[in-house]
Amino acid sequence: MTFACLACRSALAKRDDALACEACGRRWPVVGGLPILVADPAAYLHATSERAEDKKRVAFAPYAFAGATAVERIDVDPTQLASITAAAQATQENFRAVDAWLAPLREALPRFERRSDVLAEADLDRLCGYGPFGTFDHLLRDWRSDSDDAEKIARATAIDGRAGVALVLGSGGGRLLTEIAPQCNEVIAVELSYLLATASRAIVEEGAVIDLFEVRMRSVKAIADRVTRQALKGRARRENVRHVVADAHAVPLKDGAADWVIAAFLFDVVPDGRRLIDEMRRLVRAGGRIVVTTLFGYENDDLWTYYAPEQLIAMIEAHGFTLEEATWSEHPLLASPGATRRYVGQMLKVVARRSM
Ligand SMILES: C[S@@+](CC[C@H](N)C(=O)[O-])C[C@H]1O[C@@H](n2cnc3c(N)ncnc32)[C@H](O)[C@@H]1O
Ligand SMILES: [Zn+2]
Repeated sequence: MTFACLACRSALAKRDDALACEACGRRWPVVGGLPILVADPAAYLHATSERAEDKKRVAFAPYAFAGATAVERIDVDPTQLASITAAAQATQENFRAVDAWLAPLREALPRFERRSDVLAEADLDRLCGYGPFGTFDHLLRDWRSDSDDAEKIARATAIDGRAGVALVLGSGGGRLLTEIAPQCNEVIAVELSYLLATASRAIVEEGAVIDLFEVRMRSVKAIADRVTRQALKGRARRENVRHVVADAHAVPLKDGAADWVIAAFLFDVVPDGRRLIDEMRRLVRAGGRIVVTTLFGYENDDLWTYYAPEQLIAMIEAHGFTLEEATWSEHPLLASPGATRRYVGQMLKVVARRSM
């Protein structure tokens, strides 16, 4: 499968550190091996870098008082101080990993002019998906060795063994990819966060093991739970998976390119679900299928956009799909390492076939 130009949908060809469009002359950067196929790559790269710095500041803010002078001043209990120091050090290590993943992006930055008019604060998240936000939680939840969440979600979402091209939109840390890849000829992972795409690519495509610390200051069962080292790894390297940094609303593939288009837990994080379903309709071939899994956890109302389940189903049917499955299951998603409360939410999985 070759990627298509976002501007004119012609096939792209690899040229040095870019994907080039013969038809319209546009070049799309490839950074750290990842094609960056978003509308405004310069804005994207700068936003990602700047957001990472913001998130770093936020992550370290709680530990600021652990510095020596502050400690003397506020007289922290030495027992507490030990926990706080361990957490601060682990956070520092984690950001060292983030900085290493971001290194290729930062090296590329000088070649892309930063335009302040497209980098309004409110745009940063929209431009870079989860960006570094939630990266550790996502990766840990997806891949930590003592959890079978990845497998559960994959089983709940999985396609049914018919081979072909599967497109996973908002692929995150990559837990679905590794599970569905053996059933497919090819899997294309579309993810807007450079960091998540980088980590997912390393684990899934290269079989890498990523070391991260899990830091749980507010949710611990025992002192030993506060900071634990996690070696994140998939089950096996998958050679038929390819990652691209792209917006799920404008995917760099031709119409009808996929047999399966899967949006797992993406519908609930995009601002307008209809645009996502529009794009899924464009991408799936006639007779192909889409899978949408989403959460309905109304009590946790700051997390997802409100749609009722029947509205989602009606929306899918109105796009020319025939409903094949709508099933509910309990989801383990919010029992994430960072969660302070255990929500038991309901996950809806919808499978629909493009009828025309
Ligand atoms: C809740 S996570 C789900 C991840 C994965 N599908 C899973 O089930 O583990 C949502 C993911 O969508 C990504 N995302 C958010 N907006 C996006 C967009 N417009 N295009 C592509 N990915 C997006 C986020 O960066 C995040 O990785
Ligand atoms: Zn073009």
